[in-house]
Amino acid sequence: MYKLRCISCGKIYEPSRDLYTCPHCGERMGTLEIIYDYEKINVKKSDFYPEGDISQFSKILPINDYAVQLKVGGTPLYKFKNILGIKELLIKYDGTNPTASYKDRATAIAVSKAYEFDYDTIYCASTGNAASSLAGLTAPTKLNTYIFVPASAPIAKIAQLYVYGAHVIQIDGTYDEAFDISMEVGKRLNWYSRNSAINPYLLEGKKTGALEVIIQNNFEPPDVVFVGVGDGTVISSIFKGFFDFYNLGLIKKIPKIIGIQAKNADAIIRTFEKGKPYIPTDITSTTIADSISVGKPRDVIKACKYVEKSGGTFLRVSDEEILKAISELARFSGVFGEPAGAASYAGLKKAIELDLVGKDEKICIFVTGNGLKDIKSVEKLIKPTKVKPYLDDVLSFINEVKS
Ligand SMILES: Cc1ncc(COP(=O)(O)O)c(C=O)c1O
Ligand SMILES: [Zn+2]
Repeated sequence: MYKLRCISCGKIYEPSRDLYTCPHCGERMGTLEIIYDYEKINVKKSDFYPEGDISQFSKILPINDYAVQLKVGGTPLYKFKNILGIKELLIKYDGTNPTASYKDRATAIAVSKAYEFDYDTIYCASTGNAASSLAGLTAPTKLNTYIFVPASAPIAKIAQLYVYGAHVIQIDGTYDEAFDISMEVGKRLNWYSRNSAINPYLLEGKKTGALEVIIQNNFEPPDVVFVGVGDGTVISSIFKGFFDFYNLGLIKKIPKIIGIQAKNADAIIRTFEKGKPYIPTDITSTTIADSISVGKPRDVIKACKYVEKSGGTFLRVSDEEILKAISELARFSGVFGEPAGAASYAGLKKAIELDLVGKDEKICIFVTGNGLKDIKSVEKLIKPTKVKPYLDDVLSFINEVKS
């Protein structure tokens, strides 16, 4: 039903239990794409539902059986008119997934594959969201779960791990270091890897976000899409979702995809800007948007190639712009995104500033994580005012705040 193809050398592989990346090109350059014979897939628009979970896409997912009980996907697509002068702004909000981020889409597929490949243990390294997602979605299963996170991850994300009962290994180091050591341990102990980019099936789960945008917008793809970028898997998956539906004849065009990185966590942009052939440029990253604080992005090659194919680009935003975007977005839409989630809105503002989008274009921003996952970053907005419980005090306080 599907095969795997190396993003660099193009060699095609049959699926197998231990195949993660192209043995010729290595883990970084040789990430694998899942390819389908679209002629043999028989789907029509009426097969899909706006609120269905991601199992509704099983004909274009690389799994035999869907093994997750919690409702993943079917998240809301909100529509706003005349925001920033844009005719129609779509917001795909994934904070309503079971563990409150986009990562649940990938984890659902990883869990299904772990069963299919007969593993009893699964692991991942993560900036926090993939970790909490794996901990949450495996909680009701028989899989043993090991999580490698930087000890600096936001406390809410770390709390999720312990509450769900995963084995937690808090690494005293960066996400990039947690990733490398997790790979060593996973190989040594023969565990199934849910590590970004290395596991080629994750991207297929994540592409369902784009498929839902199309379905929820009556099969009218947006003109331009914005999303925050760390390792580069989410942005690649969004392209792949549009690409699949385009090749299945369900949409007539693929939107331009614009990836947003924090100024001091811009490794993928550096690679993109150097041009082809794309060679990873690694950095030391720092940003308040912890989910996209990645210095050694694992899906950099796909991200660059797919964004280029879409006619899109990448933009940098500062931490201050991300913070401002969180509150602005929340105040007009009611959507409270974590920093990496609201980065897409900061990116949209930047694109307008740079005249990269027209006001008549249909824009979609992906808000990939729930703001409650990282309260510390919005601490500045919290005013520690106390009012005495007397009518006069409260009335004068109300007068003060309304002026
Ligand atoms: C909320 C959120 N947004 C965006 C991203 C970026 O995804 P990727 O690392 O695949 O580029 C992540 C990844 O952790 C995330 O958790
Ligand atoms: Zn290869």
